[in-house]
Amino acid sequence: MATTEIKKNIHWVGAVDWDIRDFHGYSTNKGSTYNSYLVMDEKIALFDTVKKPFKNELLHHIHELTEPEKIDYIIVNHVEMDHTGCLPEMIELIKPEKVFCSPMGHKALLSHFHREDWPYEIVKSGDSISLGRKTVQFLETKMLHWPDSMFSYIPEDKLLISSDGFGQHWATSERFDDEVNMNELMAHAAKYYANILLIFSPNARKLLEKVAELGLEIDMIAPDHGLIWRKNVAGILESYGRWARQEAREKAVVVFDTMWHSTEKMAKAIYKGLLKEGISIKMMDLQVSHRSDIVTEVLDARAVLFGSPTLNNGMLPTMADMLTYLKGLRPTGKIGAAFGSFGWSGEAVKHINNYMEKMKFDIVDPGLKVKNVPTHEDYQVCFDLGVKVGKAIKGE
Ligand code: FEO
Repeated sequence: MATTEIKKNIHWVGAVDWDIRDFHGYSTNKGSTYNSYLVMDEKIALFDTVKKPFKNELLHHIHELTEPEKIDYIIVNHVEMDHTGCLPEMIELIKPEKVFCSPMGHKALLSHFHREDWPYEIVKSGDSISLGRKTVQFLETKMLHWPDSMFSYIPEDKLLISSDGFGQHWATSERFDDEVNMNELMAHAAKYYANILLIFSPNARKLLEKVAELGLEIDMIAPDHGLIWRKNVAGILESYGRWARQEAREKAVVVFDTMWHSTEKMAKAIYKGLLKEGISIKMMDLQVSHRSDIVTEVLDARAVLFGSPTLNNGMLPTMADMLTYLKGLRPTGKIGAAFGSFGWSGEAVKHINNYMEKMKFDIVDPGLKVKNVPTHEDYQVCFDLGVKVGKAIKGE
């Protein structure tokens, strides 16, 4: 069997995408999965489908358990194409009695697939349906991470089917958190949060409060990507609380690119200053570091320093890409500083400062500029900047 029974009569029937390497700008260097769940009850219900090219894999998995035509309900927790790409073909084949979705899900399904004739059943937070022995309670999770997103909760099994929430882009043959290395799993979950959900952290905080207020008993969280949480449910909830509050530690990320190694030399001198202050540092050279991995390091960092030489009165394109991506994700509570070498005009630092101002960074230095190649005195000034940022991180 390629399917997995995750709870009695509830089966993972999704697809593993070993090959995907880019997810709208996110480096999915370990692939991903599109999780779909089939509940076998008096009414048979399919929770989410998969990306279009994986339709046959989904169908093969369903066939292990039942004829697809016997499915009564399709629950659409999220309309993004990685979960609905094959939905039109599945509806055509299954002819379900009902397609459940949130009010915003209904609008999103119409604007994606232009099918007024599907048997929509719109559900809101607090609504529930019976499948027979099992109940499904719905909880809208607007902007986590689309307006249509919702969770489905099955109280009889203490199971939360959480759409993109608590997911990870990681292709594995294992299905549960206790079957893989937990540290690696948490790193994938952090990367997912940093790149997909960080911008919606205020909503995530409210949702976690709502889940606590509802007193939902949860002993398993089944997301739409990656591993299913059954051993470390408390751990992932606690981590989401920390990430949603954007809690930072005494850590700095030095992000830089360089033209003729001068800005790189500045970065290394700054590193030594930070090190002297006992700060944990990640050096992220944009020539070898992907933007999504940098954002992951920024998640729990108190400070971020950006270095770029000046090119054509601006910054290097790699830095512009990085700052645009980071600004979109709205990190909060960060300390920042800019640096870079220049030949004759030197605008890169000013442009980086503009980005940091828009991100409401606490800019602790006007920014360091070095003409052409750093001198010994310049190295000392860079070292001092590292010390200054280090002390700011420690609140000194
Ligand atoms: Fe996994 Fe928002 O789609």
